Amino acid sequence: MNGKVAVITGSSRGIGKGIAREFLASGAKVILNGRNEERLQATESDLKKISSQVHYFCCDVTSSEGAKQLIDFAIQTYGRLDILVNNVGVSSRGNVVDCEPEVFERVMNSNFMGSVKPTIYALEYLKETKGSLVFISSVAGIRGLPGLAPYCASKMALRSFAESIRIEESSSGVHVGLIYVGITQIEHNKESISADGSPIVLDDRSGKKAQSISYVSKKVLQNIQRRRFITTLSFVGVLNAFLQPRLPMLVEHLIIRSSKKFKEKSK
Ligand SMILES: NC(=O)c1ccc[n+]([C@@H]2O[C@H](COP(=O)([O-])OP(=O)(O)OC[C@H]3O[C@@H](n4cnc5c(N)ncnc54)[C@H](OP(=O)(O)O)[C@@H]3O)[C@@H](O)[C@H]2O)c1
Repeated sequence: MNGKVAVITGSSRGIGKGIAREFLASGAKVILNGRNEERLQATESDLKKISSQVHYFCCDVTSSEGAKQLIDFAIQTYGRLDILVNNVGVSSRGNVVDCEPEVFERVMNSNFMGSVKPTIYALEYLKETKGSLVFISSVAGIRGLPGLAPYCASKMALRSFAESIRIEESSSGVHVGLIYVGITQIEHNKESISADGSPIVLDDRSGKKAQSISYVSKKVLQNIQRRRFITTLSFVGVLNAFLQPRLPMLVEHLIIRSSKKFKEKSK
């Protein structure tokens, strides 16, 4: 990773910040991103304790202008781009019957279009460096799950987007990676969108079984170093990815049986 330049969208906190920490520790130069400038400043100064090679660019990546400016900033600052991690994402809660259509629009816009736009502007530079384009998906992107329809749809859409690019760029040397992340520790006050569109603050997960941000970040780094397509995290994720294409009815049956437990866990 020495000297490689990485843009990580949505990296002022949570998993994105963890990935930035991991990249900096392994010698990369990092551009952080988020919409809240104060939070970005605090994250930048925290990460400068690891390396001085970290800057931030404040913008909303769901805007074409913001996404373009973010990639341009990386090129102006470091002259090249080796890695784009599309990490921005928001989840939703609620059954389809209760969902306002607007919830689907917001989640798709954030998780899908918020990955599409930076990717479009980054690809020409990633081709020059034969770099890596990584999407942070979720085990909820392997199959549709109850109470998470907008989120599952948005993460599944990333799979086909990644597959198309892999084929289109198969001769250019660009690596495309997709990470199915399992339930992970969250930072204080992480918000999700409820069925009526209002924000809900997710429960603290420190007492629950959840992967650490540091574990997830290390796996993202490994995916890039080994130039793998899919990395699936968590036991449930690996089991689901194995069974879903082979025995989808069994998976559905198991989910229906454990849906109460599942809803408790993803609160
Ligand atoms: N945590 C989990 O259990 C889990 C499990 C599976 C997958 N994932 C995936 O992992 C990724 C990160 O999740 P997380 O839990 O770390 O989320 P998080 O704590 O809510 O952090 C999200 C980050 O993205 C930024 N952000 C959000 N929307 C943005 C936008 N439109 N433009 C620019 N920045 C934006 C936020 O900063 P601002 O609000 O200041 O913009 C923040 O830095 C997501 O794609 C999520 O779906 C998470």
